[in-house]
This record gives sequence, C-alpha cells and structure tokens, in this order.
Amino acid sequence: MSANDSSNTEIRAIRFHTYGEPADVLRLERTDMPSPGAGRIRVAVAACGLNPADWALCRGLFPGALPRGIGLDVSGVVDAVGEGVTDVAVGDRVLGAADYAGAPVAGASDFAILDHWARMPANLDFAQAAALPMAVETAYRSLDQLRVTAGQTLLVHGAGTMMGFAAVQIALLRGARVFATAGDTYAERLRALGAKVTAYGNGMAERVLQMAGGPVELALDTAPVNVSSAVSGALPDLVRVVGGDPRRVLTIVDFAAVAKLGVRSTLTEGGPFRWDVLGEFAQLAAEGRFTIPIARSFTLDDWRTALDISRSGHARGKLLLLPR
Ligand SMILES: NC(=O)c1ccc[n+]([C@@H]2O[C@H](COP(=O)([O-])OP(=O)(O)OC[C@H]3O[C@@H](n4cnc5c(N)ncnc54)[C@H](OP(=O)(O)O)[C@@H]3O)[C@@H](O)[C@H]2O)c1
Repeated sequence: MSANDSSNTEIRAIRFHTYGEPADVLRLERTDMPSPGAGRIRVAVAACGLNPADWALCRGLFPGALPRGIGLDVSGVVDAVGEGVTDVAVGDRVLGAADYAGAPVAGASDFAILDHWARMPANLDFAQAAALPMAVETAYRSLDQLRVTAGQTLLVHGAGTMMGFAAVQIALLRGARVFATAGDTYAERLRALGAKVTAYGNGMAERVLQMAGGPVELALDTAPVNVSSAVSGALPDLVRVVGGDPRRVLTIVDFAAVAKLGVRSTLTEGGPFRWDVLGEFAQLAAEGRFTIPIARSFTLDDWRTALDISRSGHARGKLLLLPR
C-alpha cells in the first residue's frame, strides 16, 4: 500500500453493528483508519450521497461482516492506494462507490475505501460529483437491460427520483423519445431537458397514453414503493401503457411484482454493472450536459435529519453528507 502516514489516526464514521431499523442501529462513532486492500483506494471524503439502499443495508440487504458503514456514493481526494492500483495516485480527486461489503466503514465517514472510481474533471465540484455514482450506474444499467436505443419511445415512471431523473437524461442522450411521470419538484426541469411530463397518481396511464398518442414501446419504473398510496398498482398501469406486454416493463423497485405480473427487474435481468461509464458522465456533468440535483447537505452530526427526509419518500433531490 502506498499511503500518507495516517494509518494510526482515529476517524469518524456512521456505522451499524447489528441489523435493524436505521434510526435504531446507526451511530456516529470513532474508529480506526481503514486500509485499502488490493484493487481498492482510500479517499478523504469530501461529500457522500445517501440512497434508499443505505437504509436497506441496515435492515440486512446483502448481509456480511459487521460493523459496516453507510453512504455508497463518494467524492474526495485519494489518500492511499492498494496493491495493483495504477490509474490514480495520492492527491487525485475522484468520485466512486464505497466498498460497503469489504470495509468496516463506507462513505458517511471522514475516510472511505472505494472499489469503483473515476477521476473528477477539473471543473466538477465535490458535491455534484458525490450525487452521481449510483444514479448513473443504476439508470445506465437498467436502460441497457431494457435495450433503449435511438428513436424508441420510453416512459420513465417516477422521474422525480434521482434514478429516474438520471434515466431520463441518459435515454435522451441515446436518442430515445422520453415520456415521464413526476411530481411538481422536477416536472419543469424534465420538460426543459426534452421529456414530455405528466403527474403520477390516479389516471396516470390515461394521461400517458394521451400524451404519447398511444402505447409507448418501453417503460422503466423508478418510483419508490410504500411511501405513498398513489404508487401502489402503478405497474399494471405501466403494462397497459406499453400495450399489454409485461416484458416491455422493467422495475428497479417493486421486485414482488416480477413473479406476479411478469415484468422485468434489475435483479432478474443480471448483466454487468456499468461503473465504466462513471468518468464519461462526470465529464458530461462538468460540461453542464448531465446533472443530479442536490436537495440538501448535512454535516455528519446531522445524519438523523437526512435519514428522516430520505425515509419520507420525498427527498426531492440528492441528500449529501459533508464530513469536511
Ligand atoms: N435496483 C437497483 O439497483 C436500485 C438502485 C438504486 C435505487 N433503487 C431504488 O430506486 C428507487 C428510487 O431511488 P432514488 O434514490 O432515486 O429515490 P429518491 O430520489 O429518494 O426518490 C424520492 C422522490 O420520489 C418521488 N416520489 C415519491 N413518491 C412517488 C410516487 N408515488 N410515484 C412517483 N414518484 C414518487 C418524489 O419526487 P416528486 O414527487 O417530486 O416527483 C421524491 O422526491 C428507490 O426505491 C430505491 O430503493 C434501486
């Protein structure tokens, strides 16, 4: 390992030692500086993006060694590199994904171990960078799984989520004709990007069919489940919107509907993770051609406020923790 001489330093990290509800099991505590293993890097965290997946990890999704940290999206400065890492060096600015399963801390920490990263372009700031990784990777991969290409018509249901907001932009970059459902927060911004937008909730299918002049070819479901009665039953509506074939619908959230309705999901489709496109989208973000909007930023001490907002299902943009 090549590293700054900081291996004996104590750091702060938000972690859980047992599985359970995040408000019960998470705590901000002091722990030892983690070391990057082979193929990993350690970064001094500048910003950490929170995701609903963080709370699912606390409840036991992908169980493994404990204690474990939260905060999967990270930007910061490389502080040490593990064996075999040659593409970045100490002092480089990077964005990437925390090694939540292999390290005792994740991004909600003074220092984090990353297992995927890209260099940050000079004119991208740390907050913008930390908002990107999971939204870009998930949206890009799900559009791959749906095989979205130029000229196709696509509905993104729940485009006010950051996964959906990313998917709309990536589908437009691919040359698709994009329709979207979203609340008031981002409806105008989605229209300005080039999507045709209507509200989610009652009557959604009819509004989309009217807006599109008939069925669309493909639909991507990114709307959170169980946060609002308006969302329940949205997948049958999405199947109607694509003309009745459930294989033209892919959900990244409602995995119970896969067996029930025959729709596809990120879990059942498999296929490679798309961390390889992170650098390209960081560059697009630096040029103002791609963005994940930031709702609010918090200090590590104020993590409970961020948790409450995220758990409400109405984050209205990316929530960030800023350790420095
Ligand atoms: N399968 C995977 O690999 C994967 C990866 C990442 C995330 N996910 C899942 O994807 C979902 C979205 O994640 P995220 O981080 O993008 O969420 P998020 O940004 O936290 O989503 C919050 C937004 O959802 C919108 N919303 C709330 N209720 C809705 C409803 N009933 N219908 C449509 N939109 C509604 C609201 O926007 P407006 O009301 O302002 O429009 C709200 O601001 C989560 O359920 C997450 O667990 C899956």
